[in-house]
Amino acid sequence: MRTEVLSVNDAAIARAAQIIRSGGLVAFPTETVYGLGADALNEDAVRKIFIAKERPFDDPLIVHIAAAQQLLLLARHIPQRAWELVKKFWPGPLTLVLPKTERVPAVTTGGLETVAVRMPGHPIARQLIELSGCPIAAPSANRFGRPSPTTAQHVLEDLDGRIELILDGGPTPIGVESTVLDLTQDPPMILRPGGVTLEVLQEILGEVRLLSSAKSEAAKRSPGTRWRHYAPRAQLVLAEPAELEQIVRELLKDGKRVGVMISQGRLPCSPDRLSVIHMPSDLSEYARLLFRVLRELDAHGVDVIVVEAVEEHGLGRAIMDRLRKACQSS
Ligand code: TXA
Ligand code: MG
Repeated sequence: MRTEVLSVNDAAIARAAQIIRSGGLVAFPTETVYGLGADALNEDAVRKIFIAKERPFDDPLIVHIAAAQQLLLLARHIPQRAWELVKKFWPGPLTLVLPKTERVPAVTTGGLETVAVRMPGHPIARQLIELSGCPIAAPSANRFGRPSPTTAQHVLEDLDGRIELILDGGPTPIGVESTVLDLTQDPPMILRPGGVTLEVLQEILGEVRLLSSAKSEAAKRSPGTRWRHYAPRAQLVLAEPAELEQIVRELLKDGKRVGVMISQGRLPCSPDRLSVIHMPSDLSEYARLLFRVLRELDAHGVDVIVVEAVEEHGLGRAIMDRLRKACQSS
């Protein structure tokens, strides 16, 4: 299969919608990362997503909609607080997990009785959903386990020859994925921190729990948290600011080519085998660059990437979540 890349205009979106309607796959920009979309209600189309990404079939997909009423087609028992969140945060980077209706095929939800739904804020994503006339199931458009794509070029690197079309709408503005919030439990639980922060959700909902990173609980609640994710080819090491320099020195002594993502700390002179990237101290700027920098350091051919830990508040939680998962050994 040849993968077409089209700059976004009306004709390109019309072509993309036609591919979705006929059961094909299209990668498109959202405000968080690029998604790999198919008609969420068409089992055969959704199955192709898992095959293209090499994603396990029990890792459920997020269903994207363009109008809040479409939620009624997908979810039953929609509590009042869900509508409050919809009013406040949609369109935007908040995904709600609710009990699914019979219209949603089991393949879309990885066999679960719940469905994850969000209305993206990116105008191209919404136009595509509207023109397609169906909700669009879309995980991040990367090969399973790789860093999520924030440009059309990243999608092409991972999925060339496996999908029909990539809509190129430029780099995505947020850079990390949506917050996944489970509303089937009380208090609600954040299964994946993201663009809408814990602090902001607590203001609306009062108590909100955060899924513990303990593997057993994580695996039960959110199947997607079981594996190494977001990972560059190089080994990733997360370092506290105070230990960064020592870790880098030792890796260099072992003859490794080292990439460093530094935000606060300082490093001594940079010898040949060191690629240093200074990350922004502003957390939204940091999030926007995170996956792109991981891919860039891979392209430099480093053996190990040492990343300085960031503070865990606001978007810092989403950043640290992705970094920890990228460090896991399996
Ligand atoms: O920002 C985003 O959310 C991007 C863009 C494309 O919208 N999408 C995205 O999808 O990140 P994906 O498939 O890479 O991540 C979806 C996450 C996975 O961790 C999955 O396990 C979880 O959401 N998830 C989906 N449906 C679920 C459900 N019914 N119950 C619990 N977790 C669910
Ligand atoms: Mg993903």
